Amino acid sequence: MNRNFAIVLASSLAFAGAASAATPERGEALVRLHCGGCHAVGRSGASHEPAAPPFRELHKRYDPEQLGEALGEGLLTGHPMMPEFRFEPDDVQSIIIYLKSIQTKQPG
Ligand code: HEC
Repeated sequence: MNRNFAIVLASSLAFAGAASAATPERGEALVRLHCGGCHAVGRSGASHEPAAPPFRELHKRYDPEQLGEALGEGLLTGHPMMPEFRFEPDDVQSIIIYLKSIQTKQPG
């Protein structure tokens, strides 16, 4: 039995189960549109707003799953420069998938 094949199959099944309309591509498009003006949203590059943490380093402060709750609730109050956002559940899921995929340190 090819072990790699089993792992690939298992993870694609997990993905299919979790995904409704949520995709990392959609997440990336959303954060580029709504957050990219201040935050570095990709795997490299600096934030336009120096105070805004690059998204690939959010793991230093947050578990991306917890970030999902914050996003669903209209995002993190208490950051004066930061506007409030409200996203649909599918969009929140897309953003989480995308954010997880770019973290410089992947959760063990
Ligand atoms: C107008 C500029 C601006 C936009 C647009 C913006 N942010 Fe931010 N964001 C900031 C700044 C500045 C900080 C740092 C605030 C601080 O540390 O006090 C920040 C901090 C954060 C943090 C870390 C909060 C913390 O407590 O450390 C997260 C997560 C975050 N932003 C997510 C987002 C997401 C997701 C979007 C898009 C949906 C977004 N931001 C859009 C400016 C912005």
